[in-house]
Amino acid sequence: MHLEPTVKLRGNVQLPRMGLGVWKLPAVQTLQVVGEALAAGYRHIDTAKIYGNEAEVGEAIRASGLARKTVFVTSKLWTDDHSKARAAAAFDESLQRLGTEWVDLFLSHFPVTGKRVETWQALQQIVNSGKCRAVGVSNYTVRHLQELMDRTHIIPAVNQVEFHPFLFQKDLLDFSRQHNIHLMAYSPLVHGHYHDNPVLRSVAQAHRRSVPQVMLRWLLQHGLSVIPKTTQKTHMIENLAVFDFQLSESEMEQINGLDQGLRTCWDPTQTP
Ligand SMILES: NC(=O)c1ccc[n+]([C@@H]2O[C@H](COP(=O)([O-])OP(=O)(O)OC[C@H]3O[C@@H](n4cnc5c(N)ncnc54)[C@H](OP(=O)(O)O)[C@@H]3O)[C@@H](O)[C@H]2O)c1
Repeated sequence: MHLEPTVKLRGNVQLPRMGLGVWKLPAVQTLQVVGEALAAGYRHIDTAKIYGNEAEVGEAIRASGLARKTVFVTSKLWTDDHSKARAAAAFDESLQRLGTEWVDLFLSHFPVTGKRVETWQALQQIVNSGKCRAVGVSNYTVRHLQELMDRTHIIPAVNQVEFHPFLFQKDLLDFSRQHNIHLMAYSPLVHGHYHDNPVLRSVAQAHRRSVPQVMLRWLLQHGLSVIPKTTQKTHMIENLAVFDFQLSESEMEQINGLDQGLRTCWDPTQTP
């Protein structure tokens, strides 16, 4: 199974399937870590207003010497800014902090009750302004996606959600495939936990790979993109090296079977 390193989103935008997440990366460390990731070959950085490091992400991209258009930047609209009145201004503030002319992907960070439709309409205006190439959502369930589609008839390009072997969201995956919504996996390595799981270890041993590589490959083979976070150069390189081996159908099934509905970040399932 050959996997392309990029995927085409709605609106004809190419997204690199391997990105670096920078949540909880202190601003003072961001310039160095993102610089090392770009040097190692990463071409997608996932940040957000709430991470407090957009400015340093932008600075690292400029310092890398890479052309801006070769690096994909995702940022997110924080929950306090989910209103028609605030969304455009909050986007402009993100753009200013990043110090770039455009954002590649801008996501509504969470399905805030009572604000979803107006926020989604505001994101459409942002994409129409030309300052953002694609818009999407994060932490949306099938119910929240269906609501947006019913009420606005505009389908998000991306839904960024927690997804890993211990949270195999099969129904969401099937729905996303059916509607051509790209799923991006956050916390794909469960923050470094559960790496001693016997099933993952035995699959990793069979391929002479590490458990994190198997977790990332499992996600990629299910069609997702991934944004693992690491501050270590060796892990950056290790996590990138997942395009040259393949999990068999039976290995995929074994890993699917690890699901235990484990949510370690947000739980949007009860959000009305
Ligand atoms: N949209 C949302 O609501 C949302 C929520 C959560 C996260 N996110 C995004 O998703 C990104 C990733 O999720 P995350 O930061 O929660 O956690 P994660 O990527 O699942 O795990 C990060 C942890 O794994 C370790 N790690 C990374 N590569 C490794 C390797 N090859 N071997 C061993 N350990 C390794 C890292 O430690 P080292 O630094 O030591 O490598 C770090 O402690 C975030 O940074 C953020 O961009 C989005």
